[in-house]
Amino acid sequence: MKNGVLSQIPTDWVAISDYEQAAQQVLSADRWAYLQGGCVRPWQATEESAFSDFQLLPRPLRDLRGGHSRVELFGQTLAHPFLLAPVAYQQLFHPAGEQATVLAAQISQSPMIVSSLASVSFEKITHTSTATLWFQLYWQGNRERSLALLRRAEQAGHQAIVVTIDAPHMGIRDRERRASFQLPPDIQAVNVTPYPLPELQHHQHMLFDGLMAQAPMWSDIAWLVQQTELPVLLKGILHPDDARQAIGLGVQGFIVSTHGGRVLDGVVDGLQMLPKIRAVVGADLPLLFDGGIRCGADAFKALALGATALMVGRPYIYGLATAGALGVAHVMKLLREELEVTMALCGTATVAEINQDYITHT
Ligand code: FNR
Repeated sequence: MKNGVLSQIPTDWVAISDYEQAAQQVLSADRWAYLQGGCVRPWQATEESAFSDFQLLPRPLRDLRGGHSRVELFGQTLAHPFLLAPVAYQQLFHPAGEQATVLAAQISQSPMIVSSLASVSFEKITHTSTATLWFQLYWQGNRERSLALLRRAEQAGHQAIVVTIDAPHMGIRDRERRASFQLPPDIQAVNVTPYPLPELQHHQHMLFDGLMAQAPMWSDIAWLVQQTELPVLLKGILHPDDARQAIGLGVQGFIVSTHGGRVLDGVVDGLQMLPKIRAVVGADLPLLFDGGIRCGADAFKALALGATALMVGRPYIYGLATAGALGVAHVMKLLREELEVTMALCGTATVAEINQDYITHT
């Protein structure tokens, strides 16, 4: 099996871990390390233990007829609550890259969030797809460049804008920096143009006056929300006060996320902050969660803690690396089926019924 040549899924691949193991075999060591975070401490250590702190508390014997896992997001009914998280440079994992993922998004009825750092042009990704597509915006150092990228995303037909705020500048990432992964020359972020660092005076600081001067600030978020009719979500929100402040600026949704543990060593786990953020944003605001979801029970726990919907990153990339669009679609199908089985066994007929009564904390 070499990059994406599987055209049929083995019948005994029944869990995300089957795809994870197969992806490790098919990817080169450096691409695998980049995908997994390339960190000194494995990301599983923090992301997965957060889920094992909670256990399911089933309520059998209920009448579940008419049940389903549909959710509403921004006026749209989704078939299930899983979205494809933005993942950069997908041609690293399969020659068709984002074009394979968008096909799977359509087949599996999973909205795809297209990364600013996609390795295929936005127009090619969106061209023939009927999938729901959102755009993930990395701030481009200033308002002018960021607006140009936003306009291009709007024109390509994206339906929401996800601004990633936890990785404010490409030059500042604890874990990815340590991995020191070099992109091959034929795989690049084809939709963005590199921009230079500001010139610094001798007394100025490279990080605070240089890199961070090109990162977005609250005033830029307030400005950005005014530039588009599309809903703007912030990805990487972790403090309830920040969520409150953003709502005041017109931000319409959040993704509680630690970027899959890729950026900041020692960061809080998002699962722990989820109910605290739900408490300040109110019952109806779209609040998504990502990080470490590997099975239906994980998804159930995040929904119980206040998520409206969920994003997965690495799991579908395992599918992409091993079997292209087919693999991505199968991974999403597995997650959906596992969640629905978990719902049925816990006695919840709809996602809206899932709450903290169905979990315990140790
Ligand atoms: C990411 N993530 C990410 N996030 C983002 O906002 N823009 C991006 O371009 C990327 N790129 C990216 C590349 C790779 C290889 C990975 C693994 C992740 C983070 C991603 O959207 C998501 O937050 C995490 O992947 C969620 O954790 P899991 O599901 O991978 O555990």
